[in-house]
Amino acid sequence: MIKETLAQIEQIGKQTLVAIKEGVDLNAVNDVRVKILGKKGELTAVLKTMGKLSAEERPVIGAKANEIREAVEKAIAERIAELKAFHYENSIKKEAVDVTLPGKRFTLGKSHPMSIVLNELKDIFRFMGYTVVSGPEIEETKYVFDMLNTFEGHPARDEIDTFYINDNVVLRTQTSSVQIRTMLEKKPPIAIISPGRVYRRDEVDATHSPVFHQCEALVVDKGITFADLKGTLEAFMKRLYGSSVKLRFRPHHFPYTEPSAEVDLSCFKCNGTGCSMCKGEGWIEMLGAGIVHPQVLKNCGIDPEIYSGFAFGVGLERITMMRYEIDDLRLLYENDIRFLKQF
Ligand code: DAH
Repeated sequence: MIKETLAQIEQIGKQTLVAIKEGVDLNAVNDVRVKILGKKGELTAVLKTMGKLSAEERPVIGAKANEIREAVEKAIAERIAELKAFHYENSIKKEAVDVTLPGKRFTLGKSHPMSIVLNELKDIFRFMGYTVVSGPEIEETKYVFDMLNTFEGHPARDEIDTFYINDNVVLRTQTSSVQIRTMLEKKPPIAIISPGRVYRRDEVDATHSPVFHQCEALVVDKGITFADLKGTLEAFMKRLYGSSVKLRFRPHHFPYTEPSAEVDLSCFKCNGTGCSMCKGEGWIEMLGAGIVHPQVLKNCGIDPEIYSGFAFGVGLERITMMRYEIDDLRLLYENDIRFLKQF
């Protein structure tokens, strides 16, 4: 009986030591502990039978059982220490950062040259007391044409220039439509600018695009004259291009202004002597302008006997290209980072 029990204890000890060595993690090792030394553990079960042993047998078995228990506990403690060290080393390896590797480069975005110029333009006009407003790009013909005195049959209404959505709706060809919307909405005094996209059926080349941007300006009040228009445009252009530039007004025709003018700027590069920028002219065509036609005021319920106004429309691409001496419109739309990061 005693020999058998001793052998049994020995056997449990051997198997247990192997199981501990093979325990892959802390949980596995703990499971072995419970299986052997726990309340219902194998070694515990053997020890429970000691009551049946004789007085001589008991200390022999007890000593063996203790020896095995100590060996098991020692093995468990060692295995746990081993597992912890292994885990620690592993995580150090996994989380290691090679500080000698080059970092990830983040490039900082920049404003598009058109945005830079537009913001500047808004600042200039806000400073002069104007409000910035916007209008729809898909617009009714009555706002783009009819109420701007652009009667049926006017070349600007020709389908060659205009994208028609249906007979009464177009992609606006000019921001002048916002003049009408503004005057229908509020009474004078009015001082607004309205920047935005416009659409025309043009082929893409160095100076044309079917989508481009304009900025409209409208002032209506008592006693507004051509002198106000001239003074405003001069202030505007000098802020953008420097105080030495001169303006030239050439008579022109727009259906919604009378009198109308095209406005040229003395070339800020050659000071008017002629260069590649102004194509030898000394002057650069900048914008259209005029005194608001009395019929346009009437169309919007404003009495032309009491009020008068001026208006102008300028191409944003044009003033941007002039500003930065960009010679091809397409550069503004291609989003080539090498181009954009120069501004
Ligand atoms: N709408 C004109 C164009 O697209 C520009 C223009 C001319 C706007 C005269 C105006 C103006 O407000 O008074 O070419």
